[in-house]
Amino acid sequence: MSASLERFAGGLKVPAIVAPMFLVSGPDLVVESCKAGLCGTFPALNQRTTEGFDEWLTEIKERLGEDDAPYGVNLIVHGSNPRVQADLEVCIKHEVPLIITSLGAVPELVDAVHSYGGLVFHDVIKKRHAEKAAEAGVDGIIAVAAGAGGHAGTYSPFALTSEIREFWDGALILSGSMSHGGHIAAAQMMGCDFAYFGSHFIAATESMASQEQKDMMIGAGAGDITYTDRVTGVGANFLTPSLDAATLHDAPGEMSLNEEAKAWKTIWSAGHGTGATREVRPAKEICEQLIAEYEAARAKFCG
Ligand SMILES: Cc1cc2nc3c(=O)[nH]c(=O)nc-3n(C[C@H](O)[C@H](O)[C@H](O)COP(=O)(O)O)c2cc1C
Repeated sequence: MSASLERFAGGLKVPAIVAPMFLVSGPDLVVESCKAGLCGTFPALNQRTTEGFDEWLTEIKERLGEDDAPYGVNLIVHGSNPRVQADLEVCIKHEVPLIITSLGAVPELVDAVHSYGGLVFHDVIKKRHAEKAAEAGVDGIIAVAAGAGGHAGTYSPFALTSEIREFWDGALILSGSMSHGGHIAAAQMMGCDFAYFGSHFIAATESMASQEQKDMMIGAGAGDITYTDRVTGVGANFLTPSLDAATLHDAPGEMSLNEEAKAWKTIWSAGHGTGATREVRPAKEICEQLIAEYEAARAKFCG
């Protein structure tokens, strides 16, 4: 394990990351997660401009202390995101501890982040993408398995992580439907280093999701999730009642960021783990429960 990765892991109470979620994660969710000992993250695009993103980072750094867990930022590295270079420069200026890249794994970006001691984790839904990320020199690969919120994979977590572990000995992060501290321990038993929780935090008090969206999460279970490419052109999981309420056009082509933002505002993404969301409550409480469950699972299986 590299020194940067050891420092990152050492700053966490449990090996878990609160995943970046479009239109859901902002400074309050990041700060409360980090204060509770998990790595809090958000997508740079949750701020409408690079200037606003810069201000959020200043605020997060001001609110976090030395004893709090490290935080992270998600950058969409794709031609459809005209802000990626400017946002990366802001991340370098603030020395953001963890950069999570989606879509493109680019060696130049990895080198730039490594130059200040930061880490790059890249999310993938298949082995081929993981191989490309490994070639780009990333520190961690996020295996986004079937049942995850957002642009989910379709493979079983066992199959996906086993295929990646055949060639990858860097950090492996498991993503998809995780909602219990025991799931963090299970991920470790499967050979992963960190667990990645998305949907489990949508109904957190500090999430930017609307009350209506949080209420829909509370009533829903795995049977209320539909996997479709009809919203953004790429397969993703959505709350079926929010899909039913929307008018969908057949197979949209590649979307601009604005079009995609509009789609995600009214059609709400969530993963199969939504059944574990029973009430709106502070992120601190959600994290504390995960930590207690993780410790109980470790005690039960590791003695
Ligand atoms: C509402 C929502 C928005 C998301 N937005 C993003 C995003 O902007 N960038 C990203 O890398 N992943 C995004 N994701 C995926 C999460 O980062 C994570 O991989 C996923 O939520 C994990 O699965 P889970 O929701 O079952 O825990 C999103 C997920 C959800 C539910």
